[in-house]
Amino acid sequence: AFVVTEACVRCKYTDCVSVCPVDCFHEGPNFLVIDPDGCIDCGVCVPECPIGAIYDASELPPDQMEFVEINARLAAEWPVIAEAREPLPEAETWAEVKSKRQYLEE
Ligand code: SF4
Ligand code: F3S
Repeated sequence: AFVVTEACVRCKYTDCVSVCPVDCFHEGPNFLVIDPDGCIDCGVCVPECPIGAIYDASELPPDQMEFVEINARLAAEWPVIAEAREPLPEAETWAEVKSKRQYLEE
């Protein structure tokens, strides 16, 4: 499955959700996750994210491995999001920040 990583935290551009053919993105307060049981590995969401937050699980950067578990766990709790929305208000500022894991609101 594909995995949303740390870069999405406090940005949530949502360009990714409108292209997913199986609607497997789920939305939390300041982050999105992919349901690993729904994802069909098509990869079309990857180039849609303006900050490159989405990876194939097999190609995750080593410091993002934790997000495999985070996506699976939160996808079971959060509602589906199938249509793009406005990014979070300070998305551009937060897009520049590298370490954002601590800001993920569950
Ligand atoms: Fe959806 Fe395809 Fe992205 Fe999986 S890889 S989340 S199925 S768009
Ligand atoms: Fe997040 Fe990128 Fe989608 S910032 S909401 S993974 S377009």
